[in-house]
Amino acid sequence: MATQMVTRTSEERALENAMEFELALEFVRVVEEAAIASAHTMGQGDRHKADQVATEAMRHTMEKLPMRGTIVIGEGERDEAPMLYIGEQVGAGWKDGASLPQVDIAVDPLEGTNLCATGSPGAITVLAASEHGGLLHAPDCYMEKLVVGPSCKNVVDLDAPVKDNLKGIARALSRDVADLVVVVLDRPRHEKLIDDIRSAGARIRLISDGDLSAGIAAAVIGTGVHAVMGTGGAPEGVITAAAMRCLNGEIFARLIIDKPQLEERIKKMGITDKKKVYTARDLAPGNHIIFAATGVTEGALMKGVRFFGEGTRTSSIVMTRKSGKVRFVESIHLAKRPDVKVRFA
Ligand code: FBP
Repeated sequence: MATQMVTRTSEERALENAMEFELALEFVRVVEEAAIASAHTMGQGDRHKADQVATEAMRHTMEKLPMRGTIVIGEGERDEAPMLYIGEQVGAGWKDGASLPQVDIAVDPLEGTNLCATGSPGAITVLAASEHGGLLHAPDCYMEKLVVGPSCKNVVDLDAPVKDNLKGIARALSRDVADLVVVVLDRPRHEKLIDDIRSAGARIRLISDGDLSAGIAAAVIGTGVHAVMGTGGAPEGVITAAAMRCLNGEIFARLIIDKPQLEERIKKMGITDKKKVYTARDLAPGNHIIFAATGVTEGALMKGVRFFGEGTRTSSIVMTRKSGKVRFVESIHLAKRPDVKVRFA
């Protein structure tokens, strides 16, 4: 059988290097700076301020990154958000014209603004990036979601009865339904879902916000989260999908199109089937995907920001799909004083 030679152009190689190695660590800086900025506001009861400082820090740090970035999911449309709006061009490449990689970026500068404002667990700063065209430009609407880890992706169906999905998950994880923990946003719209999970016999963790970080936890063994079910934000769904592509987990999702302006928006996007069930690959089809997040307050996977007088400690995760790397990054940001000491733990 003849072997087919696959040759990559120098442009493809440059993109791969940039996405898998250089930009991945640069993006850690972006989420770290946003986390530090918002952590200063923790517990102050001002969710808007917390979000604003995270957005400013994220935008400022992105400015110098070696890329031609475009925000595809951000803080809103151009006329409603001063920065990180949809379509905004970010990165150093646009200004100096250098042939830097073209990157699409989905940001959630502070996921869980209320969690930060009240000092509750689970607030993170987060972004996903891909080569141009690798992230669905989802409208800012709700999305029905079912998120599971690698062992369970073939045993669930968004349209199956909850009890059947739970049985499938339990079987795949070699345990009883009663041993499962399902994370659900604590909202009146989930009354029936919660009843169904309870009558199937599984346990529930109700969260006040933050189904994105819960989704990542569901795809990582040892976090004590086995699935996330229910309706949350569509932008968060796309960023969750990017994480699932890196972790081999899965998200099954359906946009909730319940307003005429959303009908218009999806028509422009070329979506004809309103009931389509999206998978992680549909939502984040990119080949080169980077996912980066930093804990603002304590979470299942990352610690919150810790200020220790002589500096600041942050815990982050950064993942790259193509090279299959999942890095947990513990950073110490030292105060600029000559007497500053570094502690191991
Ligand atoms: P923030 O905008 O405060 O970060 O909200 C995060 C969040 O809780 C998401 O995790 C979730 O997908 C969505 O909001 C749920 O929206 P709603 O609060 O309208 O139910």
